[in-house]
Parts: sequence; structure tokens; C-alpha cells
Amino acid sequence: MTISASHSSLGITNICCIGAGYVGGPTMAVIADRCPHLTVTVVDLNAERIAAWNDPDLSLLPVFEPGLDAVVGRARGRSLFFSTAVDEAIASADLVFLSVNTPTKTRGAGAGRASDLRWVEASARQVAAAATGHTIVVEKSTLPVRTAEAVKAILSASQGGTDSSKTFSVLSNPEFLAEGTAVSDLENPDRVLIGGEDPAAIEALASLYAHWVAPERILRTNLWSSELSKLTANAFLAQRISSINSIAAFCEATGADVQDVARAIGTDSRIGPRFLQSGPGFGGSCFQKDILNLVYLCQHYGLHEVAAYWEQVVALNDWQKQRIARLVVQRLFGTVSGKRIAVLGFAFKADTNDTREAPAIHICRDLLEEGAHLAIHDPKVPATQIARDLGQAPQHASSALGRDGSWELCDSPMEAANGADALLILTEWTAFRSLPWPDLAAVMRRPSWLFDARAIADADAARAAGFQVWQVGRG
Ligand code: UDX
Ligand code: ADP
Repeated sequence: MTISASHSSLGITNICCIGAGYVGGPTMAVIADRCPHLTVTVVDLNAERIAAWNDPDLSLLPVFEPGLDAVVGRARGRSLFFSTAVDEAIASADLVFLSVNTPTKTRGAGAGRASDLRWVEASARQVAAAATGHTIVVEKSTLPVRTAEAVKAILSASQGGTDSSKTFSVLSNPEFLAEGTAVSDLENPDRVLIGGEDPAAIEALASLYAHWVAPERILRTNLWSSELSKLTANAFLAQRISSINSIAAFCEATGADVQDVARAIGTDSRIGPRFLQSGPGFGGSCFQKDILNLVYLCQHYGLHEVAAYWEQVVALNDWQKQRIARLVVQRLFGTVSGKRIAVLGFAFKADTNDTREAPAIHICRDLLEEGAHLAIHDPKVPATQIARDLGQAPQHASSALGRDGSWELCDSPMEAANGADALLILTEWTAFRSLPWPDLAAVMRRPSWLFDARAIADADAARAAGFQVWQVGRG
């Protein structure tokens, strides 16, 4: 594409972010907090979501993240705005972040592997139509390698129109924040990655981050390297989890303890201690999607061995979820039909209300299929979300429909445990680390089981209270 020659006035004062989700919302809140001289407008087609971001009660924000309410409280109305007026915000912006959803395609070519880029395309078209003057367009969403090419093609098509002053530069600036620690990840990032071809645009975006990020942490690459780095980082992280989960199963079979193994290998400075916690399998909106995307791209380029290698990380993750559901059924004498199982935690990890690809969805669906009644408690996930994820509405156990293959939401672990045969911990919420074992045992049926898929509970205390205990990776 032709990029306008004169970028002398690339000083950014007005930013628009398309997409007010788990990435766009927190990221823009931190930028606006750290750059009070800017106007940052986050826009979304979803009016309900925007209304929630504007809610005076900061505890009702649509994204739960520790510390986010304070950041939004400081910046909102000063440098941070949430709006549904997408075109107006694009028109007045010098820089537009594309932070829309890019889920895995569910149909057509590449279904189940390739990313669905319809929202990226739609937002790029909106930018092409509504932008004025020179606009830097920044890919924030995780995207398949070479998506910037498509964004550039859409934008350059609009450049040839009547408004000759309309020009664009496209950058890739993938977000590495993890949910649950988004605010601290954004405030103190390991690195900021900027990929692009236009040095002036790259420096304009770098100068934004330079308000709070040390210069040596701002990395510059070409567009393709930047896009591929995000997929690779997520593939490596997910691979570590599948690796430790495979060893967890081996530990259970042989009498070793995966936490000892993780500690022993994690002290090797080449391996490092983080991301070695075995669990019910990785969830979240990124890992599976990005690996499947990598697999799809490798197949496209004829790299079938490389595709098969990465595909196995997802296969092991699926197996881990299935194996936990099967194990629960086996230990409960081969049947859970009509039995109440207390499920503690539904979010894909602690400190978030996000359930996308949560292992709990697959494990609960398998147990419902076996006829269990699930009494689910999660500190942040509402019943409406669980109903969407499980594909069925809640039914109280006392109702005729509420016996086999049903679920209900409970306000506390105690309420969930009442009359249950088993407790199943699926999310590592802090509150689940110190449960009142004697009190729980007193309200459950016997023999009472603890299935701890995160290995966070005090197993000795549970055993002392009379529980049979299984913990992931502990033989
Ligand atoms: C991930 C990447 O970490 C982040 O850099 C990227 O921007 C988006 O994807 P996120 O999915 O939000 O972030 O959370 P993360 O902490 O990576 O956890 C992903 C999944 O792995 C969760 O289900 C978590 O429970 C699981 N996990 C993580 C483990 O089972 N064990 C671990 O040791 C770490
Ligand atoms: P992420 O985790 O990547 O932030 P989310 O699904 O939480 O993903 O958020 C993406 C947001 O982008 C959604 O709120 C969705 O409504 C919004 N969105 C998607 N397409 C558009 C568009 N063309 N214009 C405005 N908002 C959009």
C-alpha cells in the first residue's frame, strides 16, 4: 500500500479501541491511566457491555480483574471513555487499536482450526470508511500470521477514494497480558512488541508505551515476526502445561508427586519454575485457538510434521479433561447417576469471571452425560454464563427434572456440599485452599470424596475429616 510520505505530525493525542472485551477494556484503561493527557475511547457494538463499563458502581464492570476497578475509577471521564459511537471515535482518532474477538472458525474451510476473522475484517472496513487524515491502525487481537496483509488491503482500497488525505499505517502490537493478572501485566510488562514497516508509526506507538515501560523492553520487529511471536509464546506456554499434565498422570500411576517433580526441574535455570502447575488442562480464549491456528497454518504451508507436533499439545489437553471426568465416575463406584457432586470453580483460572474454553465446561458436560447432579459454586461466574456453557438451564435437585444430568448454582462451598458424594475442585480460587473440612464432611454423604484437580487443598486435613482424596499428579 502507499503510505503517506509526511508523518511529521504523528504525535498521538486521540486513541480509539474497537472492542471493549477482556483485552481492549483493561489495556485501554491502563494506557489512559498512564497517559492522562490523551483521549482514549473504547467502542463496542455491544451496548450492554459499554453500559456496564460506564456503570458508576465499579464493582459491576463487565470484566473482573483484580485492581481494574481502581484504574478505571481514576481514568474514566478524564482520559478514558466508553461509547457505542464507533464511527465518531474512529474519525477523531490518530491511532486505532483493533481488539475484537477472533474465535476458532466453526464452519467452512479450516473449521475447528483456523481463526474466524469476520470481526477483524468488519472493523477494518469500518476504519477504512470512517477514518480521517492519517491513521495508525494497530492489531491488538491475536491473529493468524499475515492478517495484517488483509487489513492493509482493506485500508488501501479506501485510500484511492476522493479523500486523498486519508492514509494508513498498519502495526502489529500483540497483547501478552494473562487474565487474572491483567493490570499488573500491563503496568509492568516483560516486553511490548511492535511489528511494522513504517518507522514513524512504530516510534509513535513506542512513545506511547515509553510513558511507563523501560525502553529496552520495547521490542521492534517486522509485521510477520510480531504476529508469529504471539502464536509461538502461547504455543510454548500451553506446551509446558500439557507436558506437566502428562507427567502428572505418570506420577499418579507410579507413586511420584508432580509438585516435587515440578520443583526439582523448575530449579534448573534453563527450565524455570513458572507454568509447571498441573491441573485440569489449560483453558482461556487463547491457548487452544492459537495452537489450532498454528497447526492450520503449518498444514497450509505443507509442514505436516510440525502441525502434528503442535496438535499433540491440544490432544493431551483434551485427554486430561476426559480422564478427570472418567476418574470421578470410576471412584464413585462406576456410576454418578443421581449423585450430587459439588463443583468448586467454573472459571478457566482464578481471579477472572471468564469461562472461555474452561476445563470445567468439558468435565461438567461429561458428568452431566453420566447423570450426575452438579452443585456448582464459583465466586464470579453467574448462572446465565454457566447455562450458556453447559447448554442447559439450572434445575434444583428437589425438582422432578433436577435429578439426573442437571445442575444448580450455589452461593458457597458449604451449600454445594450439602448432601453431595464428592467435592470437585476445578479452579484454584484462594478461598478453596482452606476449606472447613470437618464442617463439609458433616453435611456430605459417606464415603465422601475430594477430587482436587488443582492440588491446592490441604489433603491431610481432608483425610483427617474422613475424606477419600485424589489430587492431580499425586500418586
Ligand atoms: C495466556 C497467556 O499467558 C497470555 O500471555 C496471552 O496474552 C493470553 O493467553 P491467559 O489464558 O489469560 O493468558 O491465562 P494463563 O495464566 O496463561 O492460563 C491459561 C490456562 O493455563 C489456564 O486455564 C490456567 O489454569 C492454565 N495453567 C497455567 C495451568 O494449568 N498451569 C500453569 O502452571 C499455568
Ligand atoms: P478479547 O478477549 O480478545 O478481548 P472479547 O470477546 O472479550 O475478546 O471482546 C471483543 C469485543 O469486540 C466484543 O465485546 C465485541 O462485541 C467487540 N466487537 C467485535 N466486532 C466489533 C466491531 N466491528 N465494532 C465494535 N466492536 C466489535
